[in-house]
Amino acid sequence: PVDLGTLLTSRIRDVPDYPRAGVVFKDITPLLADAAAMTALVEALAALAVRHQVDKVVGLEARGFILAAPVAVRADVGFVPVRKAGKLPGECLSQAYALEYGTAEIEVQRDAFLPGERVLVIDDVLATGGTAEASVELVRRAGAEVAALAVLMELAFLQGRTRLETVLAGAPLEALVTV
Ligand code: PRP
Ligand code: MG
Repeated sequence: PVDLGTLLTSRIRDVPDYPRAGVVFKDITPLLADAAAMTALVEALAALAVRHQVDKVVGLEARGFILAAPVAVRADVGFVPVRKAGKLPGECLSQAYALEYGTAEIEVQRDAFLPGERVLVIDDVLATGGTAEASVELVRRAGAEVAALAVLMELAFLQGRTRLETVLAGAPLEALVTV
């Protein structure tokens, strides 16, 4: 049997100079299109949800949604979307964060969690950690406890893990593949 990391890595395509010169984009679409790889990925993430005894799985728009929703179903828990600002109806909490150029803002519905619910936050890629950091803060402000943060792929050279140390406050960062 092929090792999970090897299988997943083999289905992630490097795209040089996308979205701009000098950046190597990690394209997960070959993985999404491969039933065996996608099943192995969802199973591995669902095992984390079970191990960390979570009540909800949180997905980060947009690529995090693709992974988090099937994981929630597999782990038999609910799914909560963290969306880019302006997309969710009703009362929301917002969290702004810095991008390389400018700022971004993400939101979650105020009533998304019961107080103290344990959540697994899922995204596809951890790069600088800005998105993950803002999401962890947002989910906490909504009254949930971040049991763990899981990503398919961590880009170690961008040092997102170091950036997240403070905000995670001991909650584990699980990366299935590290490059
Ligand atoms: C990408 C990726 C992560 C984030 C990682 O999302 O899917 O969410 O960037 O970068 P960071 O660690 O430096 O914050 P992006 O906002 O590009 O959009 P998408 O998921 O909607 O495609
Ligand atoms: Mg994203």
